[in-house]
Amino acid sequence: MAQFKTLDDLPDDLTGKRALVRVDLNVPMNGASVADDTRLRALLPTVLELSDKGAIVLLLSHFGRPKGENRPDMSTAQLVRPLAELTARSVRFVEDCQGPEAARALTTMLPGNIGILENTRFHDGEETNDPELARGMAALGDFYVNDAFSAAHRAHASTEGVAHLLPSYAGRAMEAELKALEQALGNPERPLAAVVGGAKVSSKLAVLGHLVRKVDHLIIGGGMANTFLAARGVNVGKSLYEKDLLGEAEAIFERAEAAGCIIHLPYDVVVATQFVANPYDVRSVNVHEVAPDEMILDIGPAAVEALADVLKNCRTLVWNGPLGAFETPPFDAATVALAKTAAALTEGGSLVSVAGGGDTVAALNQAGVAADFTFVSTAGGAFLEWMEGRELPGVAALTT
Ligand code: 3PG
Repeated sequence: MAQFKTLDDLPDDLTGKRALVRVDLNVPMNGASVADDTRLRALLPTVLELSDKGAIVLLLSHFGRPKGENRPDMSTAQLVRPLAELTARSVRFVEDCQGPEAARALTTMLPGNIGILENTRFHDGEETNDPELARGMAALGDFYVNDAFSAAHRAHASTEGVAHLLPSYAGRAMEAELKALEQALGNPERPLAAVVGGAKVSSKLAVLGHLVRKVDHLIIGGGMANTFLAARGVNVGKSLYEKDLLGEAEAIFERAEAAGCIIHLPYDVVVATQFVANPYDVRSVNVHEVAPDEMILDIGPAAVEALADVLKNCRTLVWNGPLGAFETPPFDAATVALAKTAAALTEGGSLVSVAGGGDTVAALNQAGVAADFTFVSTAGGAFLEWMEGRELPGVAALTT
């Protein structure tokens, strides 16, 4: 793994030093309150450690996609109170992330104080990685810490540009992410399995193309499994699938075969004629028995059992995406059952399990097992780009 500095490389006494810390405050809101504070809790170890060491901690983040506009509904000021509650310290708001006003505000801050700078995306230059904006941000800090793995796939001024202008360190959450991901795909114990689910092959083609060369077992679920089944000549009835990607699916089968990767598709599935909760005609059938008016909404119990056996023989698992339409019962059954198996194997010490990306965390929470996985990433897009084997600019900028 490429080398990067961590908070351990900083002196123990940081009294009065200004720490510019890139965090991901991009949390889902429900009106004025935070709907899910996972990302806020993730930044606590870094922020508290720096504050305890006497640093003036300045939090730098985007929030939503204001596209260079100053939008009050996307102001990071809304996060001052939730963060003050979580840190049990006073947190203040700084009205810009660069410039004289921000510099003035800093002069009134004391060692250990925490400040949230205004949304970086209120400046056009954030997303264009404008060197002048990066210099303006860097002028506020004595050193830079990136603790936002979930924004590291963006080459923006606050994630990439500024890292080249100050001594730069990975924060505790970033460090934990990078170590877990290295253990999962960089240098894994084998056999290695990946579960890739979700609705569309099109959004995960690059992930699948990369994984077949990396993993020993590729388990495909969700709506995207329908496209692979159709490519194998299975009549998938009314199921959603991507007709124009049948050739791509074939190419992935071929690449997998050449690389010695076994692709697992379900041989039984859960179907219904309508996509509603608990439909009256839900049934489990062999994939070759899907009626023309039925759609596949989950993988079946026999397939789940077979996949559990695969995981029992594996040492490492990477999981992204649900196996069925998990928000609508009973089509969460396969995801919940296989996630429980993975959690039990992890607890038993035979499996390292790493999960991440969009719906995945919600699915594992629904199964009640997120805490039992070895590591659950808070990242969405960044986790997917990492699964595609791409270098993340925010991480690359930290490496020495
Ligand atoms: C995320 O929510 O995945 C990150 O904060 C990145 O947000 P973005 O997709 O708006 O860049």
